[in-house]
Amino acid sequence: MVASECAPFAKLGGLADVVAGLSKALRHLGHETRVVLPLYSTIDRAKYGIHFTGSSCVHMGGGIEHWVGVHEGQLDNKVPVWFVDYQSYFGRPGIYDGPHGHYQDNGYRFALLSKAAMQICKDWQFIPHVMHLHDWPSALVAVFLKTWDWVLSPLSNTASVLTIHNIGYSGVYDSGVFQYIGISPHHFTQDRMEDHGKVNMLKSGITYADALTTVSPTHAREILTPDGGMGLAPYLNNRLDDLFGIINGADYEHWNPEIDPHIPSRYNTRDLSGKANCKAALQKQLNLQETAELPVFGIVSRFAMQKGFSLLREALPAAMKRMAFQIAVLGNGDTDTENFFRWLQSTYPGNVGVHIGFSIELSHRIEAGSDFFLMPSLYEPCGLNQIYSLKYGTLPVVRAAGGLDDTVQNYDEATGNGTGFKFWTPTSAALHDTIGWAVSTWYDRPHHITQLRRQAMAQNFDWNTSAHRYVEVYQHALQNRQTVR
Ligand code: ADP
Ligand code: GLC
Repeated sequence: MVASECAPFAKLGGLADVVAGLSKALRHLGHETRVVLPLYSTIDRAKYGIHFTGSSCVHMGGGIEHWVGVHEGQLDNKVPVWFVDYQSYFGRPGIYDGPHGHYQDNGYRFALLSKAAMQICKDWQFIPHVMHLHDWPSALVAVFLKTWDWVLSPLSNTASVLTIHNIGYSGVYDSGVFQYIGISPHHFTQDRMEDHGKVNMLKSGITYADALTTVSPTHAREILTPDGGMGLAPYLNNRLDDLFGIINGADYEHWNPEIDPHIPSRYNTRDLSGKANCKAALQKQLNLQETAELPVFGIVSRFAMQKGFSLLREALPAAMKRMAFQIAVLGNGDTDTENFFRWLQSTYPGNVGVHIGFSIELSHRIEAGSDFFLMPSLYEPCGLNQIYSLKYGTLPVVRAAGGLDDTVQNYDEATGNGTGFKFWTPTSAALHDTIGWAVSTWYDRPHHITQLRRQAMAQNFDWNTSAHRYVEVYQHALQNRQTVR
């Protein structure tokens, strides 16, 4: 695995959870999985026992050579991780962004990560059958594997699989990055790597990887459409035979209310009393009125356009005016959204609790302490929070997009079947009405809430099934390897 994020070392979103969970599951199946990750300055080396093991010389275009330090650690004592130490690129607090926004040299930083991953494999004599790449930051490995120079020739039989977690971020950088990549200019064409005079890293991966995946079956269909493909649909349509949708798993070693160390009381389907304690503790922590009567809606999210905050900003004030419920919010990002939640909290003190920031502990406490979980995403390749919510008996209220549609079964009022509440049209009115549906079910049909909760908690998205699917894709990639030089 070559990636820019991996929990617990460096995490901004679900990508980190997936790289960690899938790597562990593959090891469990007997595959010799290893992870390559940048050594960001925020990674706590002492805590994770990360130590220096040697150096590698990475050759980039224009005769540039970088000596990178290679450090080694273990993911949950199960998967070896190599950390690439190159201070001037990775010795910064942010993964992609600093205090002034995106780092301007991200194209260079992650081009180096990609080539360094290959050089390390060679230098440490670990020749993988498959290199699994995640989103634009490591997509260039697919290009390097198809254009290998003699220095990297031991990898000439290695196949590549690129997983698209988020097509909304394709990594488009100035053509200087192409010089730095250092391959023949005949690759810099519109049907391969070029995008309006710049390098499009995700598109490059789509062109050169031996197999492509995205993180749910529904999203695999969505990205083939002009809207869902966000400019890349034509290139994906060229690769139909090599494109697969595999639903993300959940790492139940970390996301399980029976064993979760972050929550104040543990619980399971047979005894939900611990969940009531978690709710009371959450209300206290976020200065909400401490009552079991009102339902709590949780939100844990990057505040990004994708997540449907435009709908929430219209729907929530009207819903709060008319209905009796509380909201517990954790997230950060878009300033208007941050300000909106601050405003909502000051308008409805005691019913709106907000923490602007990033906190692993609070994310678990919101999953455990809420009754419903709000995820009205405009698009959602898979989504992990709704999968975690199911396990914690916190009923997802979702727009039926991508993986949200694949993982949540809509409530049926006649039978009480289902695991959550869905809406389809991306409008604030539809979201408002669906919140209303959940709230009225809470008050009018509490026996259905109990039933839905049990059904939700019985869902199993452990990594084992999806890891088997990935192994099939790795085999496909190995069999369909094509040479492009
Ligand atoms: P995405 O990857 O698009 O952000 P996912 O639902 O797949 O969405 O995964 C989000 C992951 O990031 C979850 O593990 C969630 O708990 C975590 N997360 C998101 N925002 C925060 C935050 N502010 N603090 C802590 N964890 C967060
Ligand atoms: C992305 C997507 C999210 C997905 C995650 C992990 O960030 O937005 O839907 O769950 O990657 O695959």
